[in-house]
Amino acid sequence: MPSALPDGEPVPSDGSLPAHALTGLGDRPFGFYLHVPYCATRCGYCDFNTYTATELHSSGAVASQETYAQNLVGEIRLARKVLGSAELPVRTVFLGGGTPTLLPARDLVAMLTAIREEFGLAEDAEVTTEANPESVDPAYLAELREGGFNRISFGMQSARPHVLKVLDRHHTPGRPEACVAEARAAGFEHVNLDLIYGTPGESDEDWRASLAAAIGAGPDHVSAYSLIVEEGTRLAGRIKRGELPMVDDDVHADRYLIAEQALAAAGYHWYEVSNWATDEAARCRHNELYWTGADWWGAGPGAHSHVGGVRWWNAKHPAAYARALAEGRTPAQGREVLPAEDRRVERILLELRLVEGCPLDLLAPAGLKAAERALADGLLAAEPFAAGRAALTLRGRLLADAVVRDLVD
Ligand SMILES: C[S@@+](CC[C@H](N)C(=O)[O-])C[C@H]1O[C@@H](n2cnc3c(N)ncnc32)[C@H](O)[C@@H]1O
Ligand code: SF4
Repeated sequence: MPSALPDGEPVPSDGSLPAHALTGLGDRPFGFYLHVPYCATRCGYCDFNTYTATELHSSGAVASQETYAQNLVGEIRLARKVLGSAELPVRTVFLGGGTPTLLPARDLVAMLTAIREEFGLAEDAEVTTEANPESVDPAYLAELREGGFNRISFGMQSARPHVLKVLDRHHTPGRPEACVAEARAAGFEHVNLDLIYGTPGESDEDWRASLAAAIGAGPDHVSAYSLIVEEGTRLAGRIKRGELPMVDDDVHADRYLIAEQALAAAGYHWYEVSNWATDEAARCRHNELYWTGADWWGAGPGAHSHVGGVRWWNAKHPAAYARALAEGRTPAQGREVLPAEDRRVERILLELRLVEGCPLDLLAPAGLKAAERALADGLLAAEPFAAGRAALTLRGRLLADAVVRDLVD
């Protein structure tokens, strides 16, 4: 979740939504994102809305980790009031951060229990938490599994110590791989490893070694992100000062091809440009809910929500967030009703990155012409095109951002 928030219109203090947003609620998949805005240390590349204990020191008890789960449970109860009493079993829950696993396991389970009490979980609900490899052990994982979590996503990033050092990651070598085995032993059905490629100083060989280590650990899902140098981060400063080299786009493209080759050879199939899974059941259903414009409630500081074409976002700072809830107000800070044209563009942006692609009838005449050119250039696949869908080829995936830009015209 990026840390900058858009402007928007004010939200009523009870958080109520316009009636049209609630129409058809329950007909669309519904999930919860729970943000946990704490990290032990900040990685030099990371721009997420997260805080170390030192950064929150001056905010006092209101923003403390100790009371955080209570605040989140307060927002879950508010969500039930805002959404009314309609049947709304939750299909996916995703705890992200920050580092959710910095909190005691019982706090994460308490958040899930509140969702169960207020809404109920769908029978086959996917319940994920992100975790830093250094922040869990077998007893912690067992407690989460017992409490209802069935999927876990570890931030591995790289297997090479010198790459981890540039990223400011503090892992014992081999710890992320060991986490996969511990999560499996605890009974987690689905395990993901996050990797980053294109770090300054990383070679093709380093990247191959990271992929081999991740694959060797046996997760059923791998996310591979190209390193984004976010403005204002420590990494951006070091590159600006010439302490680290900037990595160019061709290197990123080469690394993507290496990832596709290694992951495909090991039986992983891409289903979104940055995501591979061993089979359909291993896909992250929570992310699919975002990518297909379903409904979700994002709880926690800076979290975004979307219900029935209304999008809103919470106060960004943990202290402002906690104060709003303590005063009986919604922590939502702004919202917008998405115009139909914005929703069309957003669908193209998100669905084009999926293996199934997006329907051609979403495209305006200029976008359709661009799609025909992309087909001729080998960026879109012929068979889905003939069946009415714009779906990226491997070459198209390398140039996904440019293809999308042309198609939204
Ligand atoms: C919230 S973090 C994951 C959980 C946990 N805090 C961790 O780092 O292990 C989500 C993922 O986003 C990715 N990420 C964060 N900042 C990034 C950046 N600037 N460029 C590329 N990927 C990034 C990392 O792969 C990270 O694992
Ligand atoms: S641990 Fe994860 S969320 Fe925290 S600073 Fe590092 S990448 Fe960002």
